[in-house]
Amino acid sequence: MAPHLTGTATASVAYAAAMPQGSTPQRIEIPTPDDWHVHLRDGEMLDAVVGYTARRFRTAMVMPNLVPPITSSAAAAAYLDRITTAAAGVETTTDGFDPWIVWYCSPDIDTTDLVEAHGAGTARTVKYYPAGATTNSEAGGTGLSAFVDLFEVMAEHGIRLLVHAESTRPEVDIFDREEAFLVDELAPLCAQIPELAVTVEHVSTAAGISFVHDHPQCAATITPHHLARDRGDLLASGLKPDLYCKPVINSPADRDALVAAATSGDPAFCLGTDSAPHPTSAKYGPTAKAGVFNAAYGLEVVADVFARHDAVDQLAAFVSSNGCAIYGVEPPMGRLVLEHEAVDVELATHLTTATGDDVVLFGTEEASRWTVTNV
Ligand code: NCD
Ligand code: ZN
Repeated sequence: MAPHLTGTATASVAYAAAMPQGSTPQRIEIPTPDDWHVHLRDGEMLDAVVGYTARRFRTAMVMPNLVPPITSSAAAAAYLDRITTAAAGVETTTDGFDPWIVWYCSPDIDTTDLVEAHGAGTARTVKYYPAGATTNSEAGGTGLSAFVDLFEVMAEHGIRLLVHAESTRPEVDIFDREEAFLVDELAPLCAQIPELAVTVEHVSTAAGISFVHDHPQCAATITPHHLARDRGDLLASGLKPDLYCKPVINSPADRDALVAAATSGDPAFCLGTDSAPHPTSAKYGPTAKAGVFNAAYGLEVVADVFARHDAVDQLAAFVSSNGCAIYGVEPPMGRLVLEHEAVDVELATHLTTATGDDVVLFGTEEASRWTVTNV
């Protein structure tokens, strides 16, 4: 039985006085959102987190960085089964819940198996991770150029490539890793295979936004935490392991460029939460695992950003229609309403898995200002 939406309100959340600036609308009605980048994990963690995604998002582009990663139709079908089992009985959006299985870019992929699985719906896209860049990326590649043959096949069959865009060259500064990867690796690949559709995942810098503008074959996902926080929040007033993720949250100017892109209505940009749960035992220690768990309140965080920038009229494009067009899915039938009002109940600040692991929920501050209802 999935212990979905478990969570203990150990601390009362008293942020509601900090209302957004500007002409804050009281009620926003949007189509059911999709989440184009999420880590649902496996086992007890999957059981604990899947309900948070399913109650807010119709489609979930589920990342394949399990141990071992998803690189075959057998592994993909088995993982889809485990997700479906974990999600049985959880509250979903009025459009239901549709997990999409992603394959992990690896020399182990057999292209015939991939193309067949794509036709069968168990290989929606392929995700490239640079080895060592982020959580469970040990099996990743040492360069995009090593996979050109695979990418040719993907382009031919309309299989989209998702890219974790971070250079792991040791001389590149951590805050410049995205730009270095895009310039060194993705630009040449785009020139070599212009028919390959690419999503730059969790774009985090102004340079990344410019790159997407300049490369029509590329789209990008943007996360709630990269829209709502900057590296000062991560580092300036005591190190915050709960905000540590890859790519690292960058400068205020970078955040502003992300907000400008997300709120512009530009169809190249859509929401991918990159919700990535880690137990506090892996977050609070001498080294913290990268990942922010935002499935619970990520939508409220995004709505809050759009409201503060007087851009709620663009929220539907960012959380729904842009992604539908990028991934070729029908618009949802259902609607979701966000009401801007102080939440009168104590919000859960963390969840506890069946085995007793705690995971901190990102966005309680924003969530205290919004109520969300599926209609
Ligand atoms: C992700 C994770 O924990 O799986 N972490 C993260 O910081 N975003 C991996 C990833 O998407 O990079
Ligand atoms: Zn991710």
